[in-house]
Amino acid sequence: MIKPVEGFSKLTKEQKIDWLTTNYTKDPKAAKALLQRYWNDDTKVQKLHDEFIENTVTNFYLPFGVAPNFLINDKLYAIPMVIEESSVVAAASKAAKFWLNKGGFKTTVIGTEKIGQVHFMYHGDPTKLKSFFNSVKPKLLEKAAHITKNMKKRGGGITNIELKNKTDKLDHYFQLHCTFETLDAMGANFINSCLESFAETLKTESLANLDFSEKEKNIEIVMSILSNYVPNCVVRAEVSCPVDELNIDHQMPSKEFAQKIVQAVNIAQAEPHRAVTHNKGIMNGVDAVVLATGNDFRAIEAGVHAYAAKEEGYSSLTHAEVENEIFKFWIELPLALGTVGGLTSLHPLVKLALEILGKPSATELMQIVAVAGLAQNFAAIRSLVTTGIQEGHMKMHLLNILNQLGATEIEKTTLTNYFKKHTATHSSVVEAFQKLRQ
Ligand code: MEV
Repeated sequence: MIKPVEGFSKLTKEQKIDWLTTNYTKDPKAAKALLQRYWNDDTKVQKLHDEFIENTVTNFYLPFGVAPNFLINDKLYAIPMVIEESSVVAAASKAAKFWLNKGGFKTTVIGTEKIGQVHFMYHGDPTKLKSFFNSVKPKLLEKAAHITKNMKKRGGGITNIELKNKTDKLDHYFQLHCTFETLDAMGANFINSCLESFAETLKTESLANLDFSEKEKNIEIVMSILSNYVPNCVVRAEVSCPVDELNIDHQMPSKEFAQKIVQAVNIAQAEPHRAVTHNKGIMNGVDAVVLATGNDFRAIEAGVHAYAAKEEGYSSLTHAEVENEIFKFWIELPLALGTVGGLTSLHPLVKLALEILGKPSATELMQIVAVAGLAQNFAAIRSLVTTGIQEGHMKMHLLNILNQLGATEIEKTTLTNYFKKHTATHSSVVEAFQKLRQ
C-alpha cells in the first residue's frame, strides 16, 4: 500500500520522479525515461519551466500553430494558436481567408475596466457604515498610494471605490466594490495588493471610529480578491458584407447561406444546450490565442461564460442579422488580458507569439482574441449548416488516428489520398489501415 509522503516539495526533481514512478507506475524505469525525454536539452530553459509551477517533473507539449491572413482594422496578422484539437487552426485560417477580400474584421474596444472586491461582514446600522465609508474613502486611497504610484504615472490606477450593501443576498454582507485601470497589465497582482491594503485600512479605521458601537467597530474582513467577471472590459469584433458576396463555392446560394447562419445564431441565442456548444467553439479560438500569449485562460473562460448568462439565461456570444441585403456577424467579449508582466516576459514562446502579433498593447490583443473567437464561430457554423461538422473534422482527425495506429509516413500518404475520396470515420480509417497492412 502507498503511504502518504512527507516533505514532497523539498525533494529534488529526480527524487520526486523516483518516488512517483516507483509508487504509481507499472514500469518505473520506462515512466522515468518518458518524463526525462520531455525535458528541454537547454538546462536554463528547463529551469525556467520548472519554476513556473511547483513539483514540476517534466513538460507537457501542446502544439503551437499559426493562422495567417487575418485582416483586422486593415492590418494583416498571423495569429499564433496553442491548442490540442485538430481542425481549429485550419478553421480559423479558412475564415480569415474568407473575410480577407471582404474588408476583413473590424473591432472596437468598448471598455477596459477591471474589478476587485473586499468582502466583509458588518453587524450594525447601514447608514452609519455609509457615512464611515464616505469619511474613510480618501484614506483608503492614500494608504494604497505606494502601490498605485507607478501605475498612476502611466495613466492607470484605482478608478473608483464603492460601498455595496449586499444584505438582501446574505445577512450582514457588505463589500467594497472597486474598479481599476491596469493598462497593458492583466492587473491581478496590482488589484489584489490594492484590495488587501483597503481591507487593512477599513479594519483599523473602523476600530478607531467613535461613531460605531463595539459591535459595529468589529468589521469582519472575509476576503479581498479581484473578480474575473469584467462586464465593462469588453471588445466587439464584426464582419459584414453584401449577402451576394457570401459565396461559398456553390455549396449553397448566398442568400440561403446568410439565412442559415442567422438561424443557427438565433438557435444558440434561444437554447442553452446549443448555446454552450456554440460558445465552446468560440472559445476554441479565444483560448488558443489566450494560451499562446501567456494569459490565464481559466479566468477568461469563467468571465466569458458569466457574460453569456448576463441576461435572461445562458445565450450565444455572437449575433447575426441580414438588414438591407447586408449580412452582419458580430461578437462581444469581456477580456481582461495582459501583454506585460506574468508569463509574457518569461516564457520564450509567449514572447515570440507577442512579437509575431507586433507586440500588441492589451487593448490590441483584446481585439485579436475576439476576432479569433468570431472567426472560429463563423467557420463552425459554416460547416454545420453546409456539409456537417464531421467531414472536415474527420479529415483533420485522420492524421491523429493514423498516428495512434502507428502508421508509417508512406502509409499516411496512401491513406490520406484514399480518404480524399472516401468518408473518414474512426472505424473506416482503422479498417482501411488494416487492409493496407495485410
Ligand atoms: C468543436 O470543438 C466545436 C463545435 O462543436 C462548435 C459548434 O458546434 O459550433 C464544432
